[in-house]
Amino acid sequence: MPHTSDDILRTDLLGIPLRNPLLLAAGTAGYVDELTQAVDLSRVGGLVTKSITREQREGNPSWRVVETTGGMLNAVGLANVGAERFEREQAHKIADSPCAVFGSIAGSSIEDYIAVAEMFDRTEAIPAVELNVSCPNVHDGKQFGDDPVALKELVSAVRVALPSTKLIVKLPPAINEIVALSAAAIEAGADALTIANTIPAMAIDVDSRQPKLANVTGGLSGPAVHPVAVRLIHLAYTGCARDAGVPIIGVGGVTAWRDAAEFILAGASAFEVGTTLFADPRAPKRILGGLTKWAREQRVDSIGALVGNVEITR
Ligand SMILES: Cc1cc2nc3c(=O)[nH]c(=O)nc-3n(C[C@H](O)[C@H](O)[C@H](O)COP(=O)(O)O)c2cc1C
Repeated sequence: MPHTSDDILRTDLLGIPLRNPLLLAAGTAGYVDELTQAVDLSRVGGLVTKSITREQREGNPSWRVVETTGGMLNAVGLANVGAERFEREQAHKIADSPCAVFGSIAGSSIEDYIAVAEMFDRTEAIPAVELNVSCPNVHDGKQFGDDPVALKELVSAVRVALPSTKLIVKLPPAINEIVALSAAAIEAGADALTIANTIPAMAIDVDSRQPKLANVTGGLSGPAVHPVAVRLIHLAYTGCARDAGVPIIGVGGVTAWRDAAEFILAGASAFEVGTTLFADPRAPKRILGGLTKWAREQRVDSIGALVGNVEITR
C-alpha cells in the first residue's frame, strides 16, 4: 500500500506522537514561535526551546558566534530570560504551537536545575524536557556531563522534580565515555538521551593573534561534527540504550537527509537540526522529503523500523 510522507515518518517518541522525527535543536529555534516566519513549524515534528536557567542571563560578550570550516563556533553563554519570565511571557504560546515543544534546562547547581524543572513541569503543554548537562558546575567548575557520578546525582534529583514530564538527558560529545555517561543517565531515570551537544573548540585570528570568540573557546557545531555524533550514537545504542529500551535523539551536523538517515541507522529514533537552519531555513523540508523517499526505498512501513539497522559485518 502506498504511504504518504506523513504515514511513513510518523514517530512515537516516549508516547509523544510526532508527525516526523525532525526536531529543531535547542538554542537554534528561539523560545517557542520566533522561527514561525522562516520555518513552517506545521511540517516539523517539534522544537526544543533554548536552554532556560533559573535566573535571567545576558550571556557572553561578542563575538559569540564565528564561522569555521565545516561549521560554526558559538559561545552564547546561555543568554535567556530566565525561568520566571519564560513562564510568564512564553509558556502560554506553547499550546498553540503547530509542533511539539520540548523544554531545555541549564544550570550551575542541582538546585538551579530543579527550579527550572518545576517550572516546566507546571507547563502542561510541554511533554518533555532536555537536560543540558554541558554547563559548568558552580562547585568545582567541571561540567555535570563530564562525570558519570555527578551526572547520576543531577539526573536523579531532576527526575523527582518532573513527575508529569519526560526527561531527556542531552549528553556532551564524550569521546571515550559516552557509554558510561549514557548508562549513568539511564540508571538515574532518564527516559531518553540526546547525543550530542557541541564539541569544545577554539579559533584564532592569526592577524590580530587573538581568539575569534570573546569567550576564547566555544562549541563546534555543523557538518564538521556529524561523523563524531554518528559514532557516539552507535556506541550508546549498542552499549546500553537499546537493551534498556531508551530512545536516542541524534544531533550534530544534520544538513541533508543522508545525515539524518545515518543517525537513524546508528540507533537514533529522532534527530535534531540546528546550525543548518541559519544557512537554509528550508532545510527541514528538504531533509524530510529525502528521508521519506529513502524509507520507501528501504521497503519499511515506518521509519522506526530502520532504527539501529546499520549492517556491520566483520
Ligand atoms: C547558536 C547556538 C546556540 C545553542 N544553544 C544551545 C542551548 O541553549 N542549549 C543546548 O542544549 N544546546 C544549544 N546549542 C547546541 C545545539 O542544540 C546542537 O546540539 C548543536 O548545535 C549541534 O547540532 P547542529 O550541528 O545541527 O547545530 C546551540 C547551538 C548553537 C549553534
